Amino acid sequence: MTVTDGELRGMARARELGTGALGTTSPNPAVGAVVLAADGTIAGEGATQPPGGPHAEVEALARAGERARGGTAVVTLEPCAHTGRTGPCADALLAAGITRVVVAVPEPTELAGGGAARLRAAGVDVVVGVEREAAERGALAGWLTGVRAQRPYVIWKVAATLDGRVAAADGSSRWVTGPEARAEVHRLRAGCDAVVVGSGTALTDDPQLTVRDAAGRNAARQPLRVVVDRRDRLPATARVLDDAAPTVVSRAGTPAELLAELFARDVRRILLEGGPTLAAAFLRAGLVDEAVVHLAPKLLGAGPSLVGDLGISGIGSALSLSVADLTPLGGDVQIRLHPTRHTGGGARTGGPATDGGS
Ligand SMILES: NC(=O)c1ccc[n+]([C@@H]2O[C@H](COP(=O)([O-])OP(=O)(O)OC[C@H]3O[C@@H](n4cnc5c(N)ncnc54)[C@H](OP(=O)(O)O)[C@@H]3O)[C@@H](O)[C@H]2O)c1
Repeated sequence: MTVTDGELRGMARARELGTGALGTTSPNPAVGAVVLAADGTIAGEGATQPPGGPHAEVEALARAGERARGGTAVVTLEPCAHTGRTGPCADALLAAGITRVVVAVPEPTELAGGGAARLRAAGVDVVVGVEREAAERGALAGWLTGVRAQRPYVIWKVAATLDGRVAAADGSSRWVTGPEARAEVHRLRAGCDAVVVGSGTALTDDPQLTVRDAAGRNAARQPLRVVVDRRDRLPATARVLDDAAPTVVSRAGTPAELLAELFARDVRRILLEGGPTLAAAFLRAGLVDEAVVHLAPKLLGAGPSLVGDLGISGIGSALSLSVADLTPLGGDVQIRLHPTRHTGGGARTGGPATDGGS
């Protein structure tokens, strides 16, 4: 597979564009696309628009205009060949005179597949699989989990002290971490379709669970707020029930049931914000795809641990995670991890449930 440095830079930019669209495209994939003019310079950029709106390639082509002719499209997901709520992207690329297409991830759904073949049949040079893993682990992760496992992608986020406490012995938990880490939580929320907590967190902390800016103003677009409250303990006065964002109070008996409920509502990315009991239930069921841990350089010595009982008695059975990256956040540290061994559960397989495609 031969790709130019300019195409690799285009692919990195396409991934960034896809990431920027997270939280707005579900149940469709958050795709990024860059059109390079024949001279290799960037002619247009685009990302998937909210459902019913143009796909990433069409956005990028519109920006490129005539400069797309004889150029290259660099896109994180194979251009679709089907007519859903919008027309086939493969046809749009042909109509614009694109002569080469560089793709990261092949389209996994039969419904939207066939784009690369259609382009090749029309004489376009198509390369598929360029930096595929980075694209799959990035903005496409939620959508791909939906296609492959018929459930949303779960990001478990927790803020803890150096000794792994999420609250003090008296239950107080505000400001475990500093302002930079808290701002990052709002960015994480904005990139998800739903934010989930258990009734314990809702009762103890009374969080609002909205996306807010540094001044505390609510963002225009808000993810769905979800409280799992199987014994109807949430009071009507809870802040999560205010009108700042839509809220679901679920009585789902298990994490798998909850994920099925949310998947049916087109939720593809979930931020699981606690607490330790609900997080343990997800981990035991093998339903955490990514963990984002904010560690504060503080010690409490007592108080609830960041995760509840996982049913593990020996070190040999520890749930292992691999570190994806470490980022300083003000005085705190963010660790992003992926579980490498689950204590149970597993992915189910099934067909596509979206209008697919890029
Ligand atoms: N620092 C942080 O990042 C952070 C984040 C969140 C919470 N916290 C702290 O954590 C503490 C609350 O801990 P917690 O463990 O009580 O909170 P939690 O995990 O949010 O809530 C636990 C409750 O969730 C309900 N639940 C719903 N589905 C469940 C399932 N499948 N499995 C198990 N439970 C399920 C159960 O109540 P029902 O049976 O009534 O449904 C359970 O009692 C507070 O001190 C809070 O400040 C800290």
